[in-house]
Order: sequence, then C-alpha cells, then structure tokens
Amino acid sequence: MPASPHAPAVLDQAPATESFREAALEGLRKPQKHIPAKFHYDARGSELFDQICRLDEYYPTRTEMAIMEEHVGAMAEALGPRAQLVEYGSGSSLKTRILLDHLDDLAAYVPVDISKEHLIESASDLATDYPSLPIQPVCADYTTAFDLPEPPVPAARTVGYYPGSTIGNFQRPDARAFLQHVAETVGPEGGLLIGVDLKKDTEVMKAAYNDAEGVTAAFNKNLLRRMNRELNATFDLDAFEHRVRWNDERGCVESHLRSHIAQTVTVAGETISFDAGETIHTEDSHKYTLDGFAALAGDAGFRVETVWTDERSYFSVQYCTVISESGA
Ligand code: AVI
Repeated sequence: MPASPHAPAVLDQAPATESFREAALEGLRKPQKHIPAKFHYDARGSELFDQICRLDEYYPTRTEMAIMEEHVGAMAEALGPRAQLVEYGSGSSLKTRILLDHLDDLAAYVPVDISKEHLIESASDLATDYPSLPIQPVCADYTTAFDLPEPPVPAARTVGYYPGSTIGNFQRPDARAFLQHVAETVGPEGGLLIGVDLKKDTEVMKAAYNDAEGVTAAFNKNLLRRMNRELNATFDLDAFEHRVRWNDERGCVESHLRSHIAQTVTVAGETISFDAGETIHTEDSHKYTLDGFAALAGDAGFRVETVWTDERSYFSVQYCTVISESGA
C-alpha cells in the first residue's frame, strides 16, 4: 500500500522476524505444550482481538476508556507541558486519541510497534487528525532496547504510555524486566502512564476470556488455523476446544486449547502427539492488586504517583515516575 501524503517517516528498527516455526515447534515439544501468545496476532487474530474489545464480557477496554475520559485532565496535568509521549505497542492508537485531545503542547508523539503497516496507517490517520502534532513512529520490538528519535523541539520529559493491561500478558519477571527497560528509556525525569487490570470476582475475569458468542474461542483457535496455513500443520479445529481457568497462585487467567481425543498432528513435518484432554497453553492474563502492582513497579524503579480507577475497581490507569538514585 503506498504511504499517504500525511504519513510521517518511520524510524525502522524492526528485528529479523522471529520464526513462528521455531517457536511453535519448541513449545509443542514441551511436557506442557505451549505457544507464545504474541503469535495470536496475524491479520485475522488482530481483527478478532478488535472484536473481543467490543464484547460485553470483555470489560477491560471500555472500563479503561471510561477512566481515561473521566480523568484525562488530571492525566494531562501529571504528564506536564512539552512531554515526549512514547506509546509501547501503539496498534491503532485508539485510547491515545483521548490523551492527544487534551495534550496540545506535546514535544512529540512516538508510537512504537512491531507491525510496520499498522504503524504507517495509524500514524498517517493521526497526522491528518492532529496536523500540528509532531509524530515520530518507530518500528521496533518494544520489549527490547530501541533508539528514540530526537524530538523537533526539546522535551521537558519523556513519558511512556502502555494501555490495555498488556503488562498482564508478561510473566512477572518479564514484566519487571520490561518496566525496567521503560524506566531506562524515559530517564530520571521520566514517567509512565499504564493501564493495569485488577483482581476481581473470578467468574467476571473468566467470562472476559470465554464469551458467549465464542469470539475469544475463535481468537485462540486461530493459532491452530495459522499453523495449518503457515507451517503445513494438520490440526482439525473441531478436535480442540478453547478452555480458560483462573490460576489463583499465579494470579492469572490461563487460556488453553484442549484436545478432545488422543491424536497425532503434523507441524512443519514433525509429528506431535496429544493425549485425550491434553492442552496447549496459549496465554496468561495476569491481574494485579494495587499493592501488587506498586511492588512490581517499585522493583523496576518506578514509584506509583496516582491511580485512577472505576467505581467497581475493575481496572486502573496509573501514573508512575522514575525513582531517583537517591530514592527521592
Ligand atoms: C492484549 N491483552 C491485554 C489481552 C488480555 O486481556 O490478556 C489479550 C486477550 N486475549 C484474549 N482476550 C484478550
């Protein structure tokens, strides 16, 4: 697709594509079969995820949007004037628009995403809608170090933005490592505005990942479809079912694909055997208490300054600042 005349130039730091084949085979050879959750997001998976975000049962998206809309003035104040706003995994930057509508003096908006096409498309839409906003897209794997572009005017501070409770898809040590990397990127004067889903009634959390319409089941099974298409696999989608469970010890909703029957499947030429009832573990969605997240952020070098939540305390948006060397 040709870039639109409004498309801001992309700073391309994309890594060599990690092989779906290697990751899938490595995971399927393990005693608890496993596929990394990031492989859900091919074109169809991304569409299904957008549908998930509109489901009645999937409370995180609309709750976070409502919190943003209600408190965006205070959030803008916390960020302060002339911030450089760096969005990790910007996707279609939907929630960001709420912020951008209230931040008219940003030094720059830096959307960071691994999908170059998505990045170009949403950056050019934003450039049309916010003509005076400097937009500096970076194509990179945001979980690893990347260079920030120099803003066109000096920034007072750099603030990371990480909405959607995507932090919940990291295992805790990886979540800490990611937050540490954000703290290094934004520097000693920097901050982080982050969406964090909170622990609540188990049935509410489970229903969010097991909707009545079966959209989340289709999203999960799309991994099998993707392996059939890209890795010449022979999965019979009807021989597997989408299963979720709350793991209280680890504080997460686990998603699995469970084989109804004992069967063998070929994936990229390799035979993978399933017992009846055996599962492929496909995703963890961690939920936090406010204290639990403050402790994690603290371990990573951030202090939680302000927490905004909804009346049921289902979800939170939190503003954190980097703890200085002296601890002040
Ligand atoms: C992207 N991430 C925060 C979603 C979540 O809630 O864990 C992914 C998702 N998987 C199934 N539904 C939503």
